[in-house]
Amino acid sequence: MNMQPFGAEILDSENRLSHFNTHVRRPLSSLRDHFADQTAFSRMLQAGDPIVYEVYEVHRPATAGELPHGLSIVHPGRVGDEYFMTKGHFHTVRGTAEIYYCLKGHGLLLMQNEAGEWVAEELRPRRLVYVAPGWAHRSINVSETEDLVTLFVYPGHAGHDYSSIERRGFLKSIQRDDGTFRVVDSPKWCAVAEK
Ligand code: F6R
Ligand code: ZN
Repeated sequence: MNMQPFGAEILDSENRLSHFNTHVRRPLSSLRDHFADQTAFSRMLQAGDPIVYEVYEVHRPATAGELPHGLSIVHPGRVGDEYFMTKGHFHTVRGTAEIYYCLKGHGLLLMQNEAGEWVAEELRPRRLVYVAPGWAHRSINVSETEDLVTLFVYPGHAGHDYSSIERRGFLKSIQRDDGTFRVVDSPKWCAVAEK
């Protein structure tokens, strides 16, 4: 691991970093239980398995002093009326925050905490969102045509807890309605974690 200072370019035309350790591509099939409309999901999967989002990440040691970072790219698209989105997660160490900075596109960062509160902050170029400690987060692309590109930075010891979201879902879902996006109650939300 490089322990020297370093710089990198954000390659605008390709939506990627000049240097990174991993490039993860998440196809629709990896988001099976996240979208509300199962019929639309199956229909879309049969027609192919589109990439919903991609992450370029610069890995850093899992210590409190380090700052892993990278680019997250959510492609435009919908499953039924629900916009393409990331899986979403809590940080395993709940007391760790994260910064998202929007470079391109239009989206929302949907956040919720374990007390059942939720917040949706808009992502637009030059807007940043501070994910406070203890808030799960998912990014959603509400554009019909453009990628949503964000830069993220989080503490090295944060860890990622996907299972809480896989069990209970998010309280809200972002749906297209009458040509715009709406935040609606999610049918996937389990008020009691019974699964
Ligand atoms: C890291 C972080 C982002 C996400 C990325 C993909 O803590 O929040 O880098 O990992 O936007 O989303 P997930 O991880 O939910 O699949
Ligand atoms: Zn995170």
